[in-house]
Amino acid sequence: MENFHFREKMTHFDHECIPERVVHARGFSAHGEFELYESMKPYTKAKFPQNPNVKTPVFVRFSTVAGSRGSKDTPRDVRGSATKFYTEEGNFDLVANNMPVFFIQDGMKFPDVVHAIKPEPHNEMPQASGAHDTFWDWVSQNQESAHMVMWLMSDRAIPRSFRMMEGFGVHAFRFVNDEGKAYFVKFYWKPVLGTHSLVWDEAEKLGGKDPDFNRRDLWESINKGNYAEYELGVQILEEKDEFKFDFDILDSTKLWPEEDVPVRIIGKLTLNRNVDNVFAENEQVAFHVGNIVPGIGFTNDPLLQTRLFSYTDTQLFRLGVPNFHEIPINRPVCPFHNN
Ligand code: HEM
Repeated sequence: MENFHFREKMTHFDHECIPERVVHARGFSAHGEFELYESMKPYTKAKFPQNPNVKTPVFVRFSTVAGSRGSKDTPRDVRGSATKFYTEEGNFDLVANNMPVFFIQDGMKFPDVVHAIKPEPHNEMPQASGAHDTFWDWVSQNQESAHMVMWLMSDRAIPRSFRMMEGFGVHAFRFVNDEGKAYFVKFYWKPVLGTHSLVWDEAEKLGGKDPDFNRRDLWESINKGNYAEYELGVQILEEKDEFKFDFDILDSTKLWPEEDVPVRIIGKLTLNRNVDNVFAENEQVAFHVGNIVPGIGFTNDPLLQTRLFSYTDTQLFRLGVPNFHEIPINRPVCPFHNN
């Protein structure tokens, strides 16, 4: 018992793993910066989308949804693209997917759809894929998922590169300006290289030959100076126009057609620096739709509301301490404190 060097070393080792994420466990990240083309001052008092001279540091994590942390990069699945903006007013997290809609309207069903798409419980097969009975049973009984399933069965579900993926905030958020006037806003990432996919045969073969295909592509591209670039777009609607459409604009199983509500391109994100330590950055990062700055707000989209509970709750468990926001990758880079 006197050998505290042994005990301390072994305790660190015994405790060094944290639980993987319950969804989006497999992911890879990079650092970069966001620069603005067009000021959003008429719509939001948030500072980072107001001044085109300010560059905001960002951290982005790309992920698959269903597979465990050691699964392959190329299954047919939704991809996450979560961005943390370290703004002068605190962190704003845009926790997006590469598809514009979602499986459900009501967050109460989230554990059910996730359990259905995860491997079958009795034999833990298949890994990382929805191609099995529990998922299709679920789809057959929950018709609101039909739109998302169309996206999931499209080429979008087998992206060629993280550098060639669109990102969608899915929910309507709020912009609030200096006068307190509010607008509905949806967020978009448009890859400068365009949106490209693998074909199914390539995705299958790559899954065996190089399970790290997408993360290797991002890592090597950044090392070569081929930085990943995405333009940020917004769709903005006046609050008074909420009921002008023949669908509920706060329903996450519907999209706002771009021909009806054009996407305005307002800035560009460049990923130009690889992670130094995958555990300290990619694993310990905690994104949360509730991380907003003054000038950005929520709506009564019921799915968004349930996400506001779920992320903090899961991160308390996953990171094991309530102070996970002080972990370096999560810490805001701003002068505000709560004493
Ligand atoms: C009620 C609906 C939803 C619930 C309850 C939910 C819950 C969760 C949970 C528990 C995690 C793991 C977080 C962690 O361990 O740090 C997660 C991750 C994630 N979710 Fe959701 N989610 C929902 C819908 C969505 C939607 C609609 C999107 C896209 C717009 C989305 C995008 C993501 C992304 C990108 C991640 C991975 C973040 C990272 O890379 O660390 N989720 N979600």
